[in-house]
This record gives sequence, structure tokens and C-alpha cells, in this order.
Amino acid sequence: MAHNGKLKGKVAIITASTDGIGFAIAERLAADGASVVVSSRKESNVTKAVEKLKASGYSVSGVVCHVSKASDRERLIKEAHEKFGGIDILVSNAAVNPAVGPVLESPEDIWDKIFEVNVKAAYLLSKEVLPYLRKRHGGSIVYVSSIAGFDPLGLLGVYSVSKTALLGLTKAAAKDLAPENIRVNCIAPGVVITKFSAGVSTSHCSFGIKTIGCYESLLALPKEISGVVSFLVSDDASYITGETIVASGGMTSRL
Ligand SMILES: NC(=O)c1ccc[n+]([C@@H]2O[C@H](COP(=O)([O-])OP(=O)(O)OC[C@H]3O[C@@H](n4cnc5c(N)ncnc54)[C@H](OP(=O)(O)O)[C@@H]3O)[C@@H](O)[C@H]2O)c1
Repeated sequence: MAHNGKLKGKVAIITASTDGIGFAIAERLAADGASVVVSSRKESNVTKAVEKLKASGYSVSGVVCHVSKASDRERLIKEAHEKFGGIDILVSNAAVNPAVGPVLESPEDIWDKIFEVNVKAAYLLSKEVLPYLRKRHGGSIVYVSSIAGFDPLGLLGVYSVSKTALLGLTKAAAKDLAPENIRVNCIAPGVVITKFSAGVSTSHCSFGIKTIGCYESLLALPKEISGVVSFLVSDDASYITGETIVASGGMTSRL
């Protein structure tokens, strides 16, 4: 990937970035000149991702960070600060979907787990990163939502509700932070070919509701999402805040 330098001098932390969409985002921001800190739960995944990005000559570091662990989030922020001298960009990408089923039949612990990782950790990490963005007199936060946040997918009710919550978090935080030159935006991907979507499509198949076949013509590669994130965190989007860009190949995006 050739550097175009539009993010030169910026430091980005990206959660859940050792695979799938998060890795593609890390790779693209690095290719565009940012120093990136990749992270996820498993050390071996972090090591592999860092090695891969370093082999391309990018400025990269990595740490283990399970987004719902406070000490891990602290370590992630510290890594960016110590290795690269500050933070300009946060991409909050981590999400889980531990179970499928009708939304109101979801066990409470599943609801709690999904909201803890997909929504609460995004809020907490943003809050914890804020002092660093303020030190730079501006910055950019991007949440990774989903097309399911607009139009709930089959039996992914609770996950879909958590993704709708991110649309609200984007709007609310953007209004608060606009006077400080901190922009908050969101991206809502359609169905992207990753391990996560493979798991989801398998679950759907077993419930006989929807299969990946429904989406075959709409499938995206992770790099079709990462370019949009790179735009959102760049100066090309300097007047854009509080927005969600839907990249879904035409899937319905009305709330
Ligand atoms: N794929 C799609 O079709 C699709 C569509 C719309 C939205 N999205 C959203 O895009 C984001 C990324 O999904 P993906 O499809 O790229 O997933 P993926 O390919 O399965 O990648 C998951 C990544 O997340 C890490 N991870 C998982 N749980 C974590 C946690 N609690 N804390 C930190 N890292 C964690 C994994 O590494 P470890 O195992 O090492 O932790 C891995 O690096 C999610 O927010 C998802 O909801 C995906």
C-alpha cells in the first residue's frame, strides 16, 4: 500500500485491530502516514499483526487490550503516549455477539455482555482518550457500528440494538466536543468478509432465518471499510462531525 501522507504526524489507536475490519483500518491509517497502535485480547494475535505491519515499513506498535478491562484500556493509551508522544485518533471497533435469538428472549447476561463490550467500552475508552485529544487541541473519534444498527438483522436483535446505541453516542458526543475541535463520527458497514461475519452467517443458517446467500452480491472486503475511516479521521472531513457513513452496498439504512 503506498503512503499518501495525509495522516502524517497523527497517532491512532484502534481497538480489535489484529484481524478483520480493525486490522484493515490499522493498515490503511498507517499507509496514510499515521503511527498506529494495534490491539486485541490475544498476545499472539497482537504480535502477528505488528510483525505484518512492520514488514510493510509502517510506524506501528501493539498491546494486548480487552476493551472491557480498565487496566488494558489504560495500557493501550499509555502505549500510544509513550511510543508516539500523544493520541490524535481513536477508532473504537471492538464488538461481540455471543448468542443469537429473539431480542426479548435474550438472557440478561448476554444483553449485559453485548452492551459492556459494544457500547460501554466505547464510551469509556473515548472518555479516557479525551485528555490526550485535548492536549493536541483536537482529534477524531470513529465508532464502528453496523447496518444492523439501522435495520436489525434476523436473530441478532441485541447486537443490533447495541449498534443503534453507537449512532446515538456519535451524535451526543459530537455536539459536546465540536467546540473543542474534536470530531466524532461513525461508520456502519454492511456485510464484510471476516471471521465475525462467517460466525454470524453460520448462526443465521442454523436458525434458518437468513443465510449469507441473501447478501452474496453485497459482501465487502475489509479494505472497502477502512478507506472510509481514513477519510473520516483526515482533514478532508474537517467539517464532518456527528455523522454515520453507511458503507453497505445498498442495504437499507433508514432508522
Ligand atoms: N464483518 C461484518 O460483516 C461486520 C458488519 C458490520 C459491522 N461490523 C463490526 O465491525 C467490527 C469488527 O468486526 P470484524 O468482522 O472485523 O471482526 P473479526 O474479523 O472477527 O475481528 C475481530 C477482532 O476483534 C478482536 N477482539 C474480539 N473481541 C475483543 C475484545 N473484547 N476486545 C478487544 N479486541 C477484541 C479479535 O482479536 P482477539 O481474538 O485477539 O481479541 C480480532 O482482532 C465490529 O464492531 C463489528 O460489529 C462487522
